[in-house]
Amino acid sequence: MAKITASVFTSHVPAIGAAIDLGKTEEAYWQPLFKGYEYSKQWMKDNQPDVIFLVYNDHATAFSLEMIPTFAIGTAAEFQPADEGWGPRPVPKVIGHPDLASHIAQSVIQDDFDLTIVNKMDVDHGLTVPLSLMCGQPEAWPCPVIPFAVNVVQYPVPSGRRCYNLGKAIRKAVDSFDKDLNVHIWGTGGMSHQLQGPRAGLINKEWDNAFLDRLIADPDGLSQVPHIDYVREAGSEGIELVMWLIARGAMDDVNGGSQPPLVKHRFFHVPASNTAVGHLILENQA
Ligand code: DHB
Ligand code: FE
Repeated sequence: MAKITASVFTSHVPAIGAAIDLGKTEEAYWQPLFKGYEYSKQWMKDNQPDVIFLVYNDHATAFSLEMIPTFAIGTAAEFQPADEGWGPRPVPKVIGHPDLASHIAQSVIQDDFDLTIVNKMDVDHGLTVPLSLMCGQPEAWPCPVIPFAVNVVQYPVPSGRRCYNLGKAIRKAVDSFDKDLNVHIWGTGGMSHQLQGPRAGLINKEWDNAFLDRLIADPDGLSQVPHIDYVREAGSEGIELVMWLIARGAMDDVNGGSQPPLVKHRFFHVPASNTAVGHLILENQA
């Protein structure tokens, strides 16, 4: 049987991708940020999954105002890095897992979540920057990746509650896949940031760290937070954090919720570009 064993949470700032691609990770501005991911890169090597289910948002790259799926699952055999205006990032293409992706689509749609099935899609920084942070600069990504895109760009966006429950449905789907696969689920985006308007540059460290605390220990309570609180407290783009609740919803809480997953790593850093960077690695208790 397939099993979700761990989850990874990380911001996906495009400037981080540019710093990696342009060889700037040792510069004084970037060094403290990349130091926070050294543990993570080793952890990835020591805990290599068979498949990564990667929750991210497309930033009007593959989708646009012409077509706005709330939840979209990538079922293709491969996905190319997108050109976001400076040419595609010099990173490997993403190999998909069509069998597991279509099984998850079948199970989750029959569980009453409306997914858009995507057989052709380029993937933007929302997906490739987390892979770079966790895997460095390999010739090929270490395993297949199922892209799962969430609309957090154009209102209305899905609630944290719906995202959390969707995570549970994804976990049930993975559990019922009849091949032995070690699956990791990643939630990306955030933390606090606002990229436009009078509040551009907004950062809220206290709110971000309380979010991390609750994501670990009180995900059910956190899932009740309405979207307006994210926008007010964490900025217009802080709403990306609802995607972390999908990954958290797919994890185990044992003993009736009193024992959350193990925190293997926690990191928080400001600034990266205009953004607060947060990062967690959680493992399910065996
Ligand atoms: C920026 C863009 C993002 O998508 C994000 O999640 C964080 C920062 C930016 O353009 O700086
Ligand atoms: Fe983003």
